[in-house]
Amino acid sequence: MNRRLRWVVLIYSLTGMSWLASTPVLSQEQNARPEVQTNAGSAILDISGTWVAKMTTPMGEMEITYKLKVNDGKITGTQSLPFGDSPIVDGRVSGDTFRFVVELESFGNIQKREVQGKIVGDTLELIPAMPAPPPGMGPGAEGPGGPPSGGPPSGGPPEPGAAGAPGGAAPPFQIQTVVARRGTPTPTYRAPSVDYAALPHLALPALRSVPSVGVANTPPMGWNSWNKFQTKIDDATVRGIADAMVSSGMKNAGYRYVIIDDGWQGSRDAKGVLSPNPQFPDMKALADYVHSKGLLIGIYSSPGPRTCGGFEGSYGHEEQDAKTFAAWGMDYLKYDWCSASRIWKDADMQAVYQRMGEALKQTGRPIVYALCQYGRSGVVQWGSQVGANLWRTTSDISDRYASMAEIGFTQSDLADFAGPGHWNDPDMLEVGNGGMSTDEYKTHFSLWAMIAAPLIAGNDIRNMKPDIAAIFQNSEVIAVDQDSLGAGGKRVSRTGEIEIWQKPLASGDIAIAIFNHSAKEMRSVVSWETLSIGKDYAVRDLWAHADRGTTAEAFSEPVSAHGAIVLRLHRIE
Ligand code: GLA
Repeated sequence: MNRRLRWVVLIYSLTGMSWLASTPVLSQEQNARPEVQTNAGSAILDISGTWVAKMTTPMGEMEITYKLKVNDGKITGTQSLPFGDSPIVDGRVSGDTFRFVVELESFGNIQKREVQGKIVGDTLELIPAMPAPPPGMGPGAEGPGGPPSGGPPSGGPPEPGAAGAPGGAAPPFQIQTVVARRGTPTPTYRAPSVDYAALPHLALPALRSVPSVGVANTPPMGWNSWNKFQTKIDDATVRGIADAMVSSGMKNAGYRYVIIDDGWQGSRDAKGVLSPNPQFPDMKALADYVHSKGLLIGIYSSPGPRTCGGFEGSYGHEEQDAKTFAAWGMDYLKYDWCSASRIWKDADMQAVYQRMGEALKQTGRPIVYALCQYGRSGVVQWGSQVGANLWRTTSDISDRYASMAEIGFTQSDLADFAGPGHWNDPDMLEVGNGGMSTDEYKTHFSLWAMIAAPLIAGNDIRNMKPDIAAIFQNSEVIAVDQDSLGAGGKRVSRTGEIEIWQKPLASGDIAIAIFNHSAKEMRSVVSWETLSIGKDYAVRDLWAHADRGTTAEAFSEPVSAHGAIVLRLHRIE
């Protein structure tokens, strides 16, 4: 793949969409439009107001809104995508053309993108500004073993063409010129855009260690709404998922947390108390329902004033929101950096996350605290000090083998930071969402189990095919993930396309995973001696649920394309 195409495909995987920059094809049509005089006396076209454009993507129609203010030829305002608002920080109208700079936030990075457009009749024609990949993910980024990758940022739609193309990268589609018309955007429950310059200053606490509340002694297991539903989530769906957790066997297999990600938030009352939006009429009643099934419930917020999806965040309301979450009966909080990057630097992250860690502790309710700041600022070093039980180590996963592999296979170096009560989180599972083959999903699940990652399903478990349920409910692989020693697994060899990971288990058993990076079946030959493993272990294959002799002989089996074999070695007395 040439550099340019590779760059485009990477952006595609990071934004949930991809585009080839194309020059607007602009019509010459000119209609009468209101003109205003600038201070300098020249006439300019006044494009102040709200403009709405629709863009067709393989995932459906996407709405883009521009709120523009023109003052003396200068443009300010906001660009709104389905994943949040971005300020327009600089811009100018000149004749029938305009340009402005949009300040986008993507996984903690602020990026400026210039938009150029033309006023054509009663419309604006322009190419919307979209976030670019985080550092390390642009041109020249490495494949598996290289820097972590990500999927759609902050509410970005799922990757086009993923379904039906298991394991294969879908071709990028072009983001072309859109036509914006004056109008009213489709109503949402997202919060209005924020004037960041006018925000009250928030003092950060002095660093100290927030003691653990004794939860998540093994990696949390559960379900989260984001990967499948994004912000289209409501009370009825969450109840249906809770029912399915029980009826599908997920609860019996160990899955406990039902976590509502972004999109539940409404607004604050005069006292600052946050309510859910009408999609969640009674959060306490929903929590009671989930608890009545013998399950636990989780929720999502941000230390910034807005979440990644543009909903109300907890900025300045940390203690109040922690109390609200505890009063509703929440057992888990995912706290996502998002718009906090417009206020603080990465170096402030520890204090910012400590503030919510302390607030949660003060509620007296044992609440799992899940940090989501994409692995920035050395979080593995300080995460447990802010009272966190898990911390995301990468940007977002997407439902493709390449994304999963780039994220999962880079976790080996972080293994020593995992342990009971505090886990590395390489993002939620995509198993069952349709973009990978069954073997690829087995690899995904096996790798997460070797990492000792949280096992948080992200599919619609109300409609799960038997092969998918069998992956989620493989008790022998789950036991590797949930092992009480809490050790993170590590890569111990890589030869050609075959990679081997090893993880010590509490009983003295050893888990071994053999991964095939190739898109073809490969035969793996494991020499136990090379891995410094003695000849006195019985070998069990955890996907085949079958015994495979002992380590007295080399292990030699075919591994399917992009597949995995997971073995458990048990010392023979
Ligand atoms: C970020 C997170 C995702 C999800 C979305 C919600 O992108 O990394 O996991 O929570 O925000 O907007």
